[in-house]
Amino acid sequence: MSKKYFENVIGQDDAKEKLGFWLQAYEKTGIFPNTLLVASKGQGKTHMAEVIGKALQKRKDKPFYPIDAVSVNSVGQLFDDILLKVYDEDATLFFDECHEFKPKVMTQFLTILSNNKNKKNRVTYEGIEVLIDFSKLTFMFATTEPQRLIDPFKDRLEQVNLEDYDTGELAKIVRLHLDKEIKVAPTTMKTLSEAIRQNARGAFKVSERVEEYCTIHNKKNFAAKDWASVAKTLHLKPLGLSGNEVKYLSKLNDHGEMRLGVMASRLALTSHAVSKDIEPYLIRMGLIRMDANSHRVITPEGKTYLKALK
Ligand SMILES: Nc1ncnc2c1ncn2[C@@H]1O[C@H](COP(=O)(O)OP(=O)(O)O)[C@@H](O)[C@H]1O
Ligand SMILES: [Mg+2]
Repeated sequence: MSKKYFENVIGQDDAKEKLGFWLQAYEKTGIFPNTLLVASKGQGKTHMAEVIGKALQKRKDKPFYPIDAVSVNSVGQLFDDILLKVYDEDATLFFDECHEFKPKVMTQFLTILSNNKNKKNRVTYEGIEVLIDFSKLTFMFATTEPQRLIDPFKDRLEQVNLEDYDTGELAKIVRLHLDKEIKVAPTTMKTLSEAIRQNARGAFKVSERVEEYCTIHNKKNFAAKDWASVAKTLHLKPLGLSGNEVKYLSKLNDHGEMRLGVMASRLALTSHAVSKDIEPYLIRMGLIRMDANSHRVITPEGKTYLKALK
């Protein structure tokens, strides 16, 4: 029943069910709950927010404004540059990476989002009373790091988690974004979707590489050997691992188990960067694991991965 809203969203059945339910309610009430999308990088948070934004526009003119949370420097700026500009209009405000809000800004949102029965809030800022009317304004947030949000902030939002894609879904994402005239045999598509980074962005990027290759070579049929050529030319690593991820893996292989801090200094990165940007995907792919003492250990799959690279 929620199909009509999500024709361009592959997978994510649970999220589509929840959001589709609220979209149906919105068609009658004009009110969509304020939501928080949670997922790792490239999983489709912005895409989903845009799809919702579009669906909300069908009922009335309601522009979608994406805002980087990191760009909101103060409560003053939140009011002057954003809320006071839109509060008496219809709009969807999408705050991306909302864990980057300054503490005072996040706290201010507790008042802005505290809902009462009338679906309206009155917020005072520098003596001005601002009416936040949820039949006009919809707030959406996205984060990769929900643990950095304070609980009362999360409590005021309906949380929607995006899930991983299986290789069949990744293939569908490649197909969705790929020029319709380009033909890819199912076996080639399977090879592609197993080799690429296992998230929506990985699939999207592959569709771009395939199009570029087909343009250069003036082709409409993309075969397995074409993919091998793309991967070789662009130095694409299996599973779409980045240079730093491969480096991490080989250092772990050379030194056996390691503490986070030691690994960070070997890679000349901060521990935070390593645990946030490098380890999650390696863990998800089963290439490394943590032992009981939080030491990092390479798995047999990790070793096999490195051997295959040589
Ligand atoms: N469920 C999906 N179905 C089809 N394409 C998707 C889906 N999710 C994301 N994409 C595409 O993948 C790319 C990355 O998604 P994005 O929303 O930017 O990820 P995030 O915001 O979580 O980092 C975008 O080009 C988007 O169009
Ligand atoms: Mg995004």
